[in-house]
Amino acid sequence: MNIKLFLPCITIFSGISYAENFTYLQSESTVYLYSQNKQYIETIAPSLNKFNIKFEVKKSIDSKDDKNLYIICDVSVIDKHNLPKYYIAYQSLDLNSHQLTQSYAEKLANAVAVWDPSKNNINRYRSIIHNYLYFPSNYKHADPVILPCFMPIATLNTYKELLVYSNQKDTDISSHLPALFCHTVLQNPKIIVEAGVRGGESTKPLQKALNFSNGVLIGLDIEETAARSYSSVNNGIFLLMNDLDFDKYYEQSPFAGKKIDVVFIDTSHLYEQTLKEITLFAPMLSENGFLSFHDSNVTPLEHAGYVRLNGSSDRAPGNPRGVTQAIKEYFSLEFDEYKYFNATFTKNGLNWNIIHYPFCNGLTIIKKVKSA
Ligand SMILES: C[S@@+](CC[C@H](N)C(=O)[O-])C[C@H]1O[C@@H](n2cnc3c(N)ncnc32)[C@H](O)[C@@H]1O
Repeated sequence: MNIKLFLPCITIFSGISYAENFTYLQSESTVYLYSQNKQYIETIAPSLNKFNIKFEVKKSIDSKDDKNLYIICDVSVIDKHNLPKYYIAYQSLDLNSHQLTQSYAEKLANAVAVWDPSKNNINRYRSIIHNYLYFPSNYKHADPVILPCFMPIATLNTYKELLVYSNQKDTDISSHLPALFCHTVLQNPKIIVEAGVRGGESTKPLQKALNFSNGVLIGLDIEETAARSYSSVNNGIFLLMNDLDFDKYYEQSPFAGKKIDVVFIDTSHLYEQTLKEITLFAPMLSENGFLSFHDSNVTPLEHAGYVRLNGSSDRAPGNPRGVTQAIKEYFSLEFDEYKYFNATFTKNGLNWNIIHYPFCNGLTIIKKVKSA
């Protein structure tokens, strides 16, 4: 990432910059936006602009195009043979007054993702179409919905697989799996560390990301049963250990001296442990590597529970909110973990970008930003 992307910005308080546009990723290819109705373009464009997504408004669709991702707002009236290979369907029909025909349902299901601005609409098709995401009217909530716009075309089918999975299998982390995949793939990671494996839900997107970068995934857990989650991971190594001992293993391993591109932490969630984990792993990161944390917004028991992106909700186990406390302490940050947060900041002479997703118990990604 280029340092010039820090500008322009509004500095709210010392060390933390809130970018006017969110600048944490750079889109490499151009997304094509197509609609017969200008109103929909005007609805979607602010979110794309806010996230610096390169896009071009098209007057027609090239159905032979298999190199570019389209966002198409009028899929209902376009013949399926005239659709390109990769498209996001902005679902613009009001399904209270229009029937969802089988042919329209098929076109939605064939999309990389269905972006729908209406939760009522989603409720009408969620049992038969599983690649949907609620598209918020407020651009501030458009991350992680907009993430596929940054992705290399070759990764979009896998993104869709994870989106479908995340909408169908509700877990404490399910909503984050597509985003974890996207952020990880975009690192082109050679070495990923997953601390806290258990049943391997987070292993799925990390493992799938490796298919595009030919790297290695190292899983750490103190429970023997977690090893099963690695039995089918190509290029995966499972280590039965306390993650705080990882540096001792690493120094003696074939990877000694190599920096780590992605560290995912989902262990005890206790403040002291998390602070030690950050202290251990942050210096091991590669030039633009990131630390990521699940359970950075676990709702205390007295609150109602947590909400997933697919609209479902659950009770969360009581948690002293140690993860966020440790993040704030280590990086000298202040933010409201109940809200989306995206900011750049400097710590120990290094530039960092934090993205905090508050839903589904919270996922926080803290990425070193390369200097120019
Ligand atoms: C919340 S679960 C992980 C869930 C997993 N990431 C997933 O998505 O399916 C926490 C896991 O962390 C492991 N754990 C707790 N403390 C640990 C430590 N110090 N080092 C390594 N693993 C630890 C537990 O045994 C447990 O399997």
